[in-house]
Amino acid sequence: MTALPPAFPDPSLARVYGDAFELVGNTPLVRVNRIAAGLPAEVYVKLDQHNLGGSSKDRIGINIVREAIASGDLKPGDRIIDFGAGNTAIGYALAGIATGHPVTAVAAPTLSPAKASLLRLLGADIVPGRPDVPKDDPEHWGVIAARYENEDPGTWWARQESNDTNPAAHALSTGPEIWEQTDGRVTHFVAALATGGTATGTGRYLKGRNPEVTVIGTAFDDTPVGRGENNLARAVAGEDGLEEDWSPNIDVQVLDRLELREKAEIIAFGWHVARTEGLVLGPSSILSLQVALELAAQAPEGSVVVSFSADSGRDYLQREYDPAWLRENELGHVADRVAPVGEPV
Ligand SMILES: Cc1ncc(COP(=O)(O)O)c(C=O)c1O
Repeated sequence: MTALPPAFPDPSLARVYGDAFELVGNTPLVRVNRIAAGLPAEVYVKLDQHNLGGSSKDRIGINIVREAIASGDLKPGDRIIDFGAGNTAIGYALAGIATGHPVTAVAAPTLSPAKASLLRLLGADIVPGRPDVPKDDPEHWGVIAARYENEDPGTWWARQESNDTNPAAHALSTGPEIWEQTDGRVTHFVAALATGGTATGTGRYLKGRNPEVTVIGTAFDDTPVGRGENNLARAVAGEDGLEEDWSPNIDVQVLDRLELREKAEIIAFGWHVARTEGLVLGPSSILSLQVALELAAQAPEGSVVVSFSADSGRDYLQREYDPAWLRENELGHVADRVAPVGEPV
């Protein structure tokens, strides 16, 4: 391991891009050396915050819109609507800029002011909706998206949770990139689950190239999956005949394992990763990196573990990476551990 790169990179390798949208995909794969020192496996992070809009969701926003235009579902001038945590809406907003479609994001009250500002800057509208109420509650964000679509024939609901062009975006881009970047040596792929598009699409592609690749989905213990409030964990463990109450884009046939972790531990680890690797990663990225490192410790010599980073920790500087926010959100014990700068976390 080198402490610092010996010099600046070879300038002849610096790429020129003919258009901003060429900055979606082909994101860097970075080896983590300090936190993985002494492990028998190589551990890498796929840094999808290097996409144009700052997250992996540019891939799906653009692919969903491209395919909807091609199929005729999305007609010229139609408004695109969907619910989500904000990253996908940024992807739709970018796709809307490229194709001339206005965008409405149905967002939870927890949407960060920074993401809201970015969405408005990119020309998107934001309407409030809630993920934490029953699915038929008039305030549920799916009910709100459906209402907009039903009331206005010029509005098209993109449905990232069930639209198969979401995992297809990762099968067309993320998977092939990781295969190329590891020269086909990848043995494990670890990604956080929300819609499931990343794990399903990337995992499907990698297993198509090498059926021995292990695909691991991760989730926080404060999510429905993590709290065991749906059947996903049992289905991934091999139980058949269960009601499929998980996101339709999670393919249990692709997932070999589901790993759940406590949020507080992962946040503390995020501070540690920033201070040891210089990588500032979003909480879901840290969750997968933690699981990847545990796997790497057990994996056979020569294994190549790729952990997926959907977005940057810069998006969470006023949340998980702010001691005051931690204290206001019953995570004061994490703030006490991490706040004194320079001390080991
Ligand atoms: C920050 C972040 N991490 C992970 C995920 C999970 O990705 P996927 O929806 O492909 O399962 C998302 C998706 O919403 C996300 O925004």
